[in-house]
Amino acid sequence: MSLPERNLALELVRVTESAAMAAGRWMGRGDKNGADGAAVNAMRYMLNTIRMDGTVVIGEGEKDEAPMLFNGERLGTGDEPKVDIAVDPIDGTRLLSLGRQNSISVVALAERGSMYFPQHIFYMNKLATGPEAAGSIDIRLPIGENIRRVAKAKKKNVEDITVVLLDRPRHEKLIADIREAGARIRLITDGDIAGALMTCKEDAGVDLLAGIGGSPEAVITACALKCVGGAMYCTLWPRNEEEAEKCRDLGMDLEQILSMDDLVKSNNVFFAATGITNGDLLQGVRYEGDRIRTQSIVMRSASGTIRYIEAIHKLSKLETISGINY
Ligand code: FBP
Repeated sequence: MSLPERNLALELVRVTESAAMAAGRWMGRGDKNGADGAAVNAMRYMLNTIRMDGTVVIGEGEKDEAPMLFNGERLGTGDEPKVDIAVDPIDGTRLLSLGRQNSISVVALAERGSMYFPQHIFYMNKLATGPEAAGSIDIRLPIGENIRRVAKAKKKNVEDITVVLLDRPRHEKLIADIREAGARIRLITDGDIAGALMTCKEDAGVDLLAGIGGSPEAVITACALKCVGGAMYCTLWPRNEEEAEKCRDLGMDLEQILSMDDLVKSNNVFFAATGITNGDLLQGVRYEGDRIRTQSIVMRSASGTIRYIEAIHKLSKLETISGINY
């Protein structure tokens, strides 16, 4: 495998900025596919300008038949390095279409062959936390025990711990168990990549992400947490016996606990995210006449550097040099 030498994340941020700027115009319009289409086109356009030979391993959209960067799609100039790409042009499409908080645009990249391909399994059960409690979680244990361990690692009381999870009927028991353990709950309607990243951001006030969410999002989250030094464990979550059977036929182990290293083997991972709507993690895109402002986070696992990038884009100039309509 050839090691990418550049900090590709610094190039990736232009990709997520573009996708966020294109998608942000759709805020509150109630049109998920329109927003997704704008983000996907901008993302594809910018990814193709990067000097790399990229293959999309984690594309999005298949689940809801939205426009997508499809799995196997080749992106970049075709030059070295050879990389796997994971994209989520909009994590939280519904959030954006309703003008709600925390939709983000996300890209991760790692050496070719290093990202886990979840095939047709749309969901995984996830448990994730930030660096402070990274060594203390274990998805095989009951949630109450994990909450106690995180509290101990963070020198907090159990009732100080906040668990973030998607607000879904499938989480009824999990919610009851968290309440029983005595922790606080933050229910989010969408966007569990941002949810997991909140556990790494001190002022977000979230300690643990739990529950079932998208498999593509799990791989992207693992890329991000690897950069920050957090921890994540997942198991495949087939929705029904038919999906479980398919899994077994493909030789996938339903009992396997997937660690971050299983989800992305490489230790040279690049990650960038840009806020689309305002959120706990990042500010959303602000349109101010000829000026567009964005806020992004850029990370690289090899160095562990985390950058927050505030950008001011000049619309009239972009229109003359870029093929994207903002
Ligand atoms: P998209 O906006 O990319 O469709 O994903 C939103 C999301 O909330 C993810 O963050 C999460 O992992 C997944 O959907 C959960 O799936 P579902 O809505 O089917 O429960």
